[in-house]
Amino acid sequence: MRRIGVLTSGGDSPGMNAAIMSVAKAARHYGMSLIGIKRGYNGTLCKSNHIEDDMVELDLDTILDIADQPGTYLRTARCLDFLRPEMRAHAVSNIHEMGIEGIVVIGGDGSYHGALELCQLGVPCVGIPGTIDNDLAYTEMTLGYDTALNSCVEDVRAIRATSRSHDRPGVVEVMGRHCGDIALKVCAGTGAEICLVPEVPWSIQEVVNRLCRQIDMGNLRATVVIAEGAWDSMQPYDWQHYLMECHERVHDDSTISTSYLAKVLKHKCKAEARPTVLGYTQRGRQPSAYDSWFAFEAGNLAVNLLRNGIGNQVIGIKDGRVYYMPIVEALQKKREFNLSLYNLINSL
Ligand code: F6P
Repeated sequence: MRRIGVLTSGGDSPGMNAAIMSVAKAARHYGMSLIGIKRGYNGTLCKSNHIEDDMVELDLDTILDIADQPGTYLRTARCLDFLRPEMRAHAVSNIHEMGIEGIVVIGGDGSYHGALELCQLGVPCVGIPGTIDNDLAYTEMTLGYDTALNSCVEDVRAIRATSRSHDRPGVVEVMGRHCGDIALKVCAGTGAEICLVPEVPWSIQEVVNRLCRQIDMGNLRATVVIAEGAWDSMQPYDWQHYLMECHERVHDDSTISTSYLAKVLKHKCKAEARPTVLGYTQRGRQPSAYDSWFAFEAGNLAVNLLRNGIGNQVIGIKDGRVYYMPIVEALQKKREFNLSLYNLINSL
């Protein structure tokens, strides 16, 4: 192969830049030129006026310093157009026109589905699991998860320190889409007492009971950590009833949020519960040493797979080592939630 492409797609994650950099280093080492495809799969559709706005030759020397930067140098996006077969065919013709013979796709589950489509249309792809969510079953860790987790642990520790000073409980929402791994490990890492995840159903009453019990035991700064996806696993309840009791009204159930939960807890447990949504602080961090290492090895392996004609693969971590497996098999694997850790956190 003489020319390959690299793109980042979906939510950005710490370590994406390190992976781009590693791909660029390996490409140069093996005498291949590298095209940076901008804004995820959108870049393959060449929608802009200038081709350089969508696909640009990456010169290692100009990107040498990006490895430790947060975010993604190539920009990222979700690309709904790519769901349409005629747009994918258009993308493939642009990819051929640019002389790109294989693509390194850095992104999560949705990005991998796009990569699979490209593979089936004859463009070899290798995936690097760039997402903070840790929701891909075939790998022990996704790229960016470690950094996001460390960021959340630091933030929850800070929240708990102030909560202790004021004897106030905290309700903290973390990211993770449909995966509770960030919330789970944040609780394990900070001693937060109540963990709510998408994988396990829960009810408002149960959280009220548990927080009240903590307060009765003298723990006035207990922390509820809720994964953003846990709103979907909340058991049917009369949300309006709880809110009316504390003189609040929600007109649309899709707007239920951490601040409402804090209001209900404040009212029911007679404690000044304070809400915090950590949001993008989790994603926009400099990669941890672990994520930088993973990105470095993954980028290098991705280029080697492509140049050896081993396309249609994804890279992950197994037994602490970087490995690869076919993209089709990876997407079929079912995630196992760590229920015993969840039970341990919530029962102690
Ligand atoms: O997939 C990464 C992620 O950060 C999820 O945790 C979150 O649900 C989603 O992206 C948010 O996406 P956006 O930044 O587009 O709102």
